[in-house]
Amino acid sequence: MTATIRPRRRLHAALTAALALALAGCSADKYPNTIFEPTTEFNREVLSIFHSLFFWSALVFVLVEVALIWVIWRYRRREGAPEPRHVHGNTTLEIAWTLIPAVILIVIAVPTVRAIFRTQAKAVPGALQVQVIGHQWWWEFKYPQYGITTANELYLPIGRTVNFELKTADVIHSFWIPRLGGKRDLIANRTNYLWFTPDSVSENAFNGSCNEYCGASHANMRFRAFTVTPAEFEQWTIHQKSPAVFSAAPAAGTTAAPVTAATTQGAAQAIAQGNPQAVPAAATPSGAPVLPASTTGYIGFTADKLPAYTVPTMPVPDGMKFTPGLTGDAARGQQIYSRNSCIGCHAIAGNPMSQGIIGPNLTHIGSRLTIGAGLYPNDERHLALWIKNARAMKPGVIMPTLGKGEFDPVLGTTLKSGLSDQEIADIVAYLHALK
Ligand code: CUA
Repeated sequence: MTATIRPRRRLHAALTAALALALAGCSADKYPNTIFEPTTEFNREVLSIFHSLFFWSALVFVLVEVALIWVIWRYRRREGAPEPRHVHGNTTLEIAWTLIPAVILIVIAVPTVRAIFRTQAKAVPGALQVQVIGHQWWWEFKYPQYGITTANELYLPIGRTVNFELKTADVIHSFWIPRLGGKRDLIANRTNYLWFTPDSVSENAFNGSCNEYCGASHANMRFRAFTVTPAEFEQWTIHQKSPAVFSAAPAAGTTAAPVTAATTQGAAQAIAQGNPQAVPAAATPSGAPVLPASTTGYIGFTADKLPAYTVPTMPVPDGMKFTPGLTGDAARGQQIYSRNSCIGCHAIAGNPMSQGIIGPNLTHIGSRLTIGAGLYPNDERHLALWIKNARAMKPGVIMPTLGKGEFDPVLGTTLKSGLSDQEIADIVAYLHALK
């Protein structure tokens, strides 16, 4: 008697353990990119279809398998049994196995097609408009209602529907924030749309990525999405809209003038006249840049508020070095930046020399948390190494190798001239001052 119960108990225990494990596996803590804990109406709709399809297919699977096993058992070959009767054609059976799948497909199609139409419909009037432009390999985000252009970090207000306009600058990419919504392709010569309303107040930082193979650094085309309160979002837009301005911490007894568009205009003119020495020294060389008083409101997520799963963990390639202990000077960094090829690709509102549109817009780069499209943290070391040799840090990136003596993996040559580590430290100080 006990011999028959024990294996069954063991089976029950094993099944319970497996189920518990499976349920634990769905936790958003462990799997921050799960689609099973939706935080938008878009994802909830997709999940409800998934659940219903899963239920019905599981039911069909179980019924078919039970019938199959029963038939195998019932009509198994027996010793001395006569040859079974051969059957050819059965109209009733054939009609049945044609009709049943057709009905099942209709049952699946109706909610699916309805959901497709609902999620593809125009977003509600008054939605936040965000243009997403895919580049090899980074994301450009534009907020036309606010006149903001940023890169690789997306800020969305909780409770307001956001309507994405998806475009590409080159090849096909695919936009996806698993916890919020997507994935939808960015296709050349076509605009795709996607809308959803973030409603999570408990979690506010999400991973996004490209999901259509788009070249060497497809896997390195990442971004972060942050959902913030409407008030924080308004403050963020006000800050993002303002030109990038930095001022130096005043040395004892002196007041440093903030570097504004006016002074950078002066710098630009001086540089244009071939006289970079005449550039006004707006920041004290030793002073650390500080935020001007006008931008003390919410300017974005800070590194200490980032959940671990959004912090980049990509290791720096072996052999990359940067002189330790260098102190950068932001004002000098601005001059070096404005004299070099940086301005050909990058734009900084507030630096009239810098109007490039090939690379990410660097206005307020100092308040971003990642560089290289979500690949590395935006700290001094990583940004310095990135400027020194981006091509060694991200395969195929357009950003040229700039450090003197560095090996450019695209050109296959070592740079005889280029930026020194001190000059790079100065540029880092300048960029990080652009909060
Ligand atoms: Cu862009 Cu893959």
